[in-house]
Amino acid sequence: MPIKAKSKHANFSQAVLHWFEHHGRKNLPWQLKPTSYRVWVSEIMLQQTQVSTVIPYYENFMRSFPNIKQLALADEDKVFHHWTGLGYYARARNLHKTAKIVYQENHGVFPSTLEELIELPGIGRSTAGAIMALAEDSYAVILDGNVKRVLCRYHCVKGWPGHSETQKQLWELAELHTPSTNCRSYTQAMMDLGAILCTRTKPSCPVCPLQEGCEAYLRHKTTEFPHKKIKKKFPEKSIQMLILHNKSGKKVLLEKRPPGGIWGGLWSFPEIPVHADISSFLQKYDFVINDQTMQWNDIRHTFSHFHLTITPQILWLAKEPMMVMEKPDWHWYDLNSPTELGLAGPVKTLLTQLVNKS
Ligand code: ADE
Ligand code: SF4
Repeated sequence: MPIKAKSKHANFSQAVLHWFEHHGRKNLPWQLKPTSYRVWVSEIMLQQTQVSTVIPYYENFMRSFPNIKQLALADEDKVFHHWTGLGYYARARNLHKTAKIVYQENHGVFPSTLEELIELPGIGRSTAGAIMALAEDSYAVILDGNVKRVLCRYHCVKGWPGHSETQKQLWELAELHTPSTNCRSYTQAMMDLGAILCTRTKPSCPVCPLQEGCEAYLRHKTTEFPHKKIKKKFPEKSIQMLILHNKSGKKVLLEKRPPGGIWGGLWSFPEIPVHADISSFLQKYDFVINDQTMQWNDIRHTFSHFHLTITPQILWLAKEPMMVMEKPDWHWYDLNSPTELGLAGPVKTLLTQLVNKS
């Protein structure tokens, strides 16, 4: 029996729901026992990361923090540790903040209305809708990247989808098509249709249930939509990262980054400007190094709004550091028995290289 749907454009949702019955994804880890907590964590992880990358992180996260209480009471470094490699660390910070709020102010029970959900850190309108629909099967509208792409094509929506005018129009269309019942299936179906059929570069229109009414398909313009953002060139920044080994070479110095800014709250190597003299840094903390130093190849890392080139400088102390000079946000990281910390992506890469080369 196909699932029936009621909406102003029932054909659209019925076609999507019918397709979902046969081709949708039904065994993703967060679809098993879909509580608000489990769905919320998955939605945050999936915001900027694809399903295949998220799955192992999600399963690990759920093993360590099976419920909101465990997450709320967890140490921040441990939460970041579970995020190492996923990127966009503000997501982890907000996840932890929201867990604390829900645990302390609402006895660990997630709010059930859109208005209350979007008040929480890291939960926007679409994520709130996804939590309501996927966890509770409540009526809710979503507009994530997949849904935007499908709607832009189906209606030949002009303009870049991130633009506020375009966004407004897309929300209206999303609302128009969302059925008043079966919201869980419909929501998952739209995500799946966008991810499986209506893909970014090569949509599978011949097997798409929306083909008959899809304007972009009918006009042979599928690759033209969604319209692209007019590209700005990102600024380039360069720094040196100082990889300072202790005398035995078994430990390296890490420092915790301040809460705001890039990699806020994560651990990284001390950094200095690209043309700065390393010896001034060393003198400041009374570090005496071996003659031996090494410069590894640069690493280039792209953030959401700039590029960073990192020049790693490998140094060895000639005598043990003077503890009195140590800063509280420093940590001598033991390469052989590492502490569980949240690490910036390139730092993790560099640490792996150090372990492999030592
Ligand atoms: N992307 C965002 N949410 C998703 C979900 N529930 N399933 C698959 N991909 C997603
Ligand atoms: Fe996307 Fe093609 Fe389906 Fe239109 S017909 S929604 S472009 S897959």
